[in-house]
Amino acid sequence: MFNKRIKIKELLAVEPQQQEVTVMGWVRTFRNNQFIALNDGSTNNNLQVVMELGKFGDDLLKRITTSASLKVTGTVVPSLGKGQKLELKATHVEILGDCDAEKYPLQPKKHSLEFLREIAHLRFRTNTFGSVFRVRNALAFAVHKFFNEKGFVYMHTPIITASDAEGAGEMFKVTTLPFDNTPRNVDGSINFKEDFFGRATNLTVSGQLEGELAATALGDIYTFGPTFRAENSNTARHLAEFWMIEPEMAFSDLEDNANLAEEFIKYIIGYAMVHCREDLDFLAQRLADEEKQKPQLERSEMGLIERLEFVIQNDFERLTYTEAIQILKESNHNKKKKFQYLVEDWGVDLQSEHERYLVEKHFKKPVILTDYPKDIKSFYMRMNDDGKTVAAMDILAPGIGEIVGGSQREERMDVLEKRMKEMNIPAEEMWWYLDTRRFGTVPHAGFGLGFERMVQFVTGMTNIRDVIPFPRTPKSAEF
Ligand code: 4AD
Ligand code: MG
Repeated sequence: MFNKRIKIKELLAVEPQQQEVTVMGWVRTFRNNQFIALNDGSTNNNLQVVMELGKFGDDLLKRITTSASLKVTGTVVPSLGKGQKLELKATHVEILGDCDAEKYPLQPKKHSLEFLREIAHLRFRTNTFGSVFRVRNALAFAVHKFFNEKGFVYMHTPIITASDAEGAGEMFKVTTLPFDNTPRNVDGSINFKEDFFGRATNLTVSGQLEGELAATALGDIYTFGPTFRAENSNTARHLAEFWMIEPEMAFSDLEDNANLAEEFIKYIIGYAMVHCREDLDFLAQRLADEEKQKPQLERSEMGLIERLEFVIQNDFERLTYTEAIQILKESNHNKKKKFQYLVEDWGVDLQSEHERYLVEKHFKKPVILTDYPKDIKSFYMRMNDDGKTVAAMDILAPGIGEIVGGSQREERMDVLEKRMKEMNIPAEEMWWYLDTRRFGTVPHAGFGLGFERMVQFVTGMTNIRDVIPFPRTPKSAEF
């Protein structure tokens, strides 16, 4: 058996009693031909390995370079040096893999996040990305734990679909048809009957519609999977491939939906605070350093940990779109024309500058906005009695903007069919969706949480490209 090792995180917590252990990891630094800082990815804290002078040959010492991989056996002793309780006195050091220091692109110094994105295959080896991806993992686990404890069924919805769930038309096509000599119909259009699935298909933008099918039989379900949007948005909060969590609940209305979303967000943040404290403290410090580079006015009032605690401890602000428009319209920001898009009429979609104003300047806490004008929302959202608004909800988070989008669903067949007609959604193709309304329809509701935006919020990373291992964005799909 090769992997008889103790992980460094576990080792750093034991009492040093001369016990013999084996560790494996990558060299972060090697000082004075004697002290190795070894990291194995279990924690940002390195293990100090001491190689007694004169005990190891020059041939071996020369090969201990930054990022070389080692297997070290030794005894655990109290550390004489500052900063660590214990160290490993090496008795046997084996090089598992050499690393040419001349060619290795990561130096033991601070690199910019932009540079690290270009070497995303190696950025896991930095403290920042080690922390980010351990936190991402904890959040993903917490998602499943939360829903499992509540009795939700985890549902796998398809990635290839023939429907456009959001009616937004920002989809990647899936086809095996040739680009030249593409089969055509007599009118010149592409003959998808010849295609792999015998029809036009896309990568899914959301698992919601299939989620509704499952919820209207199993009760409470959730999805957690990749979704795809071909929108050409080159921003710090958009990806072409991102992960979304979509719960769907039968027998629920908009308020139940908002309650679940708020409880869910607080739960997964709380889980990360307990289980990733070291990583969050590290990321908080990183963010504080980054903030120092900014002009005073742009700095956030709270540090990362404070902000997370604040979100867990306080109720989210809840208000309607109509109330929000009123606040924005009357704001000094609007009057002094500080918005790029001035807020004048009811009915306009909120820009991210408006969302951020509400969350960061006005309420200074997460906000749940409800009851949007029907014309700026999807066909499946439940029509309110006013005939003008729908039972939609968006949750806006400080520093991020929209983190959740959801609604109560239109369960009344006649109203739904009317909406689909108005919005040019082909009802014939959606016969299976409409069947849920035909056969024992129930009030139901759900939402989608953008997982990367959540990871951004918890880690304080400003660019969404830095919270997913290999970001897919316009003109970029490396690795
Ligand atoms: O608001 P959206 O488009 O809602 C839906 O897809 C619904 N079908 C969800 C539902 O009700 N089941 O997307 C939901 C969330 C957004 O609030 C945002 O957090 C995230 O998904 N999101 C993105 N994240 C990263 N990159 C993108 N391009 C995103 N587009 C949406
Ligand atoms: Mg949305």
